[in-house]
Amino acid sequence: MKKIIQNCPIIIDTDPGHDDALAILLLEKSKMFDIKAITTVAGNSNIQNVTNNARYILDLIGSKTPLYSGSEKPLKRELIKAVVHGDSGLDGACIKVQENISDQAISKIISIVRENPGEVSIVVIGPETNIARAFISDPELPRLIKQLIIMGGAITVPGNKNRVAEFNIFVDPEAADIVFSSPVKKVMVPLDVCNDIILQMTDFERLKGSKLYEPLSKMMEKYIAGISAGEKVSGALMYDPLAAYYLINPAAYEIEQMDVKVETIGELTRGMTVADRRIWSDHESNVDVVTKIDAKSFIDDMLSILGDRKSLS
Ligand code: RIB
Ligand code: CA
Repeated sequence: MKKIIQNCPIIIDTDPGHDDALAILLLEKSKMFDIKAITTVAGNSNIQNVTNNARYILDLIGSKTPLYSGSEKPLKRELIKAVVHGDSGLDGACIKVQENISDQAISKIISIVRENPGEVSIVVIGPETNIARAFISDPELPRLIKQLIIMGGAITVPGNKNRVAEFNIFVDPEAADIVFSSPVKKVMVPLDVCNDIILQMTDFERLKGSKLYEPLSKMMEKYIAGISAGEKVSGALMYDPLAAYYLINPAAYEIEQMDVKVETIGELTRGMTVADRRIWSDHESNVDVVTKIDAKSFIDDMLSILGDRKSLS
């Protein structure tokens, strides 16, 4: 893949999270974007932990990207955290800094978008609480954002948090409903494509000799153990880096426009992303759903960028 220096302004809204860590490092080390802010949201762990984890990730590469903490709980529900990342949310990382918690994320998202109308892409790789709160606070915002790249949902495959729902949508269905009902351009990276791209420790061995090899190996070992115990899958599921890589190499993605709504009432179906796939339906599509990703390009490019090596693909 030929790296095109775009310098487009982006925000990463995240709940680190081992896969969030890979997504943040990938976008930062690609040197392709003007990363205006990292904003954190409770999900994989509580807001203090995910914000500490974000600080740790940025410190790993000496990044000065501004970091702002956000929502400590969903809009209307109690926080249900993930289990696969461990209590800290980033087991295997040596967290030393207690980051200041300010809940500035929402106001910063609004100000950054309004300073760069029509230009900011937001990579949404945790529950959508911060984004929804920003839309509630500033109803014009959806029309001022270039696009949301959302890791979330499941169209034709089972959920990974309940029978039908993917974790990010499950945690805050009301927030996801606000986002999916809004007019902003949305690119959705669902479990349907994430389930098929899994890395093993042998893949991370390709980072040997690079600065990130040791810290990432320690984190990925814990993540793989967590995924094995929590999701009965053998290897590191690449959820969030697959959303991040869309901005780096959109040509590696196939898209289908769909009409997707979020279930907020069902007891068994809380957080289900329900696509209207009836051929005769006169529905209006509201989401660009990723249906296929070039896995080899993703893996080669991600490991090349993380390992500071020339891209192989
Ligand atoms: O379902 C996967 C998503 O939930 C990823 O964003 C992962 O980090 C967890 O937050
Ligand atoms: Ca995440």
